[in-house]
Amino acid sequence: MCGIVGYVGHANGRVNAGHNALDVVLEGLRRLEYRGYDSAGIAVVADGSISSRKKSGKLANLTAALEADPLPASLTGIGHTRWATHGGPTDQNAHPHLADGGKLAVIHNGIIENFAELKLELLRKGVTFASETDTEVAAALLGDIYREQLGGDPSRGGLTKAMQLACQRLEGAFTLLAVHADQPDVVVAARRNSPLVVGLGEGENFLGSDVSGFIDYTRRAVELGQDQIVTISADAVEITDFYGAPAEGKEYHVNWDPASAEKGGFPSFMEKEIHDQPDAVLQTLLGRSDIDGKLTLDELRIDPALLKSVNKIIVLACGTSAYAGQVAKYAIEHWCRIPTEVELSHEFRYRDPIVDANTLIVSISQSGETMDTLMAVRYAKEQGAKTVSICNTNGSTIPRESDAVLYTHAGPEIAVASTKAFLAQITAAYLLGLYLAQLRGNKFQGEIKDILADLGKIPAKIQEILDNEEPIKELGRSMADAKSVLFLGRHVGYPVAMEGALKLKELAYIHAEGFAAGELKHGPIALIEEGQPVFVVVPSPRGRDSLHAKVVSNIQEVRARGAKTIVIAEEGDEAVTAYAEHVFYIPESPTLLAPLLATVPLQIFALALASAKGYDVDQPRNLAKSVTVE
Ligand code: F6R
Repeated sequence: MCGIVGYVGHANGRVNAGHNALDVVLEGLRRLEYRGYDSAGIAVVADGSISSRKKSGKLANLTAALEADPLPASLTGIGHTRWATHGGPTDQNAHPHLADGGKLAVIHNGIIENFAELKLELLRKGVTFASETDTEVAAALLGDIYREQLGGDPSRGGLTKAMQLACQRLEGAFTLLAVHADQPDVVVAARRNSPLVVGLGEGENFLGSDVSGFIDYTRRAVELGQDQIVTISADAVEITDFYGAPAEGKEYHVNWDPASAEKGGFPSFMEKEIHDQPDAVLQTLLGRSDIDGKLTLDELRIDPALLKSVNKIIVLACGTSAYAGQVAKYAIEHWCRIPTEVELSHEFRYRDPIVDANTLIVSISQSGETMDTLMAVRYAKEQGAKTVSICNTNGSTIPRESDAVLYTHAGPEIAVASTKAFLAQITAAYLLGLYLAQLRGNKFQGEIKDILADLGKIPAKIQEILDNEEPIKELGRSMADAKSVLFLGRHVGYPVAMEGALKLKELAYIHAEGFAAGELKHGPIALIEEGQPVFVVVPSPRGRDSLHAKVVSNIQEVRARGAKTIVIAEEGDEAVTAYAEHVFYIPESPTLLAPLLATVPLQIFALALASAKGYDVDQPRNLAKSVTVE
């Protein structure tokens, strides 16, 4: 939640000197807007004072305000795009928040849990507040420490020291960035359980919630650890812990292309990302097996003996990532014969789960910053479990805190609703399942090569669906007035049905529900009335044919009660045509791999329907890309 950018450039004749902080920060905010768009704000240090502008609503409102009332040119600035937690999405609650008589500006991502107690303390000292936010309390605390404890004297440690002392008093999760008029050439930042990355330039340095905040300027990034403070100037990056002890960051190269964070000619990021899916799956597969079909997941860096000793797997994730986990469960249990549970991260740690050293926790998170999942992983680690993270965001917190990581290579996912990350997560989880099967040398050893070969054919099959997307788009557009849509599936088709429903809820704001098709007659069938649209994800008629016949019966059951049936079936499956108002065929594939195909028409449908309603498919209401609060 919330996007954060910081910038300091060099005043005199250095390489890259002369970027106006306002331009750098606005560009970073534009790329980070997917993290929250309730309000945006910016502060720069110029001519010995702080100048700031902030506006509720999307970034466009702030840019319009800046055009009407420009900020002075500056080499130091911070900017924020907000996903509201404390206090509504108003101008007043937008960041930056000012303190120390307007000489200090602060932006924040996260939640300060002890803000009420700190606020009381500051009120007693006569501090007044203009907003309802916890951020303003943090700003006031920082200002109070800077002025009262340190005498407003930079030689006594200045803003960096004040930030250290303030952080010692803050509880919760936060990234804080601060600039002070007395120290015009630094931005000071702190992080605890909330994302922050440093970008290294030449004669300039950057801060961002993630690398997209500065990717137009540098590919050199530095990971920060927990409970660290960083002070950037044009020439230096200094890291300490909250008590001033020097610390080291880990530098890495960002291999994302800035163009890949753009729309690539599509009307929305979401449409582009749906079309990126063949590549997302391909990139996730690349380099992870040899020509003999042997998986080489050396990057996992976890002792194979430990993985062999695992007797239970728990997949932890939220939302779409949890549906990827549910798909993976079918495959992992089938290939590895290890009992596998999938649990929503926020439910897991509050129910006294049975976890020990022989439990393998597989967390799945696109962002790697989802607080619920991070906390669940930490809890599992405390119980002695081994933790593997499947993640799309290099250097993010969950992989860093896990024993091992298997990155998905879907590239940056900007649209808030997840699409390509989902397929990449399923792919990575399959690789992990096959790797465990390989390690354990069970009876599927001989089949791994064939499964990998089938996986290798998936990108072209997704492309085939995308090349023939017009009819499903047309259906989506024609159903813009639908009030409710149901989705049915069985086996791996069940999580696919739930994901189809979630996409529709998120994008089109209409009621949508995914059910296990077998559960229909235990209740949900009561919802069926004349004209009720029902999507049915039908398994392949080959192989597990008993399941196919059962799902075809389910189509008949709802059809008999007046439902408008829309069927996703494997090409050549003639059995479904008699009972379907619309059939969309997907290429043939083994049952376990079919979710990588069957999901795609459901994504296209939701996108087309929401677009027909004129909704913003990249930034649906009330949502944020990265949910960094519990
Ligand atoms: C839905 C969606 C969310 C995320 C969930 C977890 O389209 O994107 O349900 O899947 O918030 O996020 P990550 O994967 O970043 O942990």
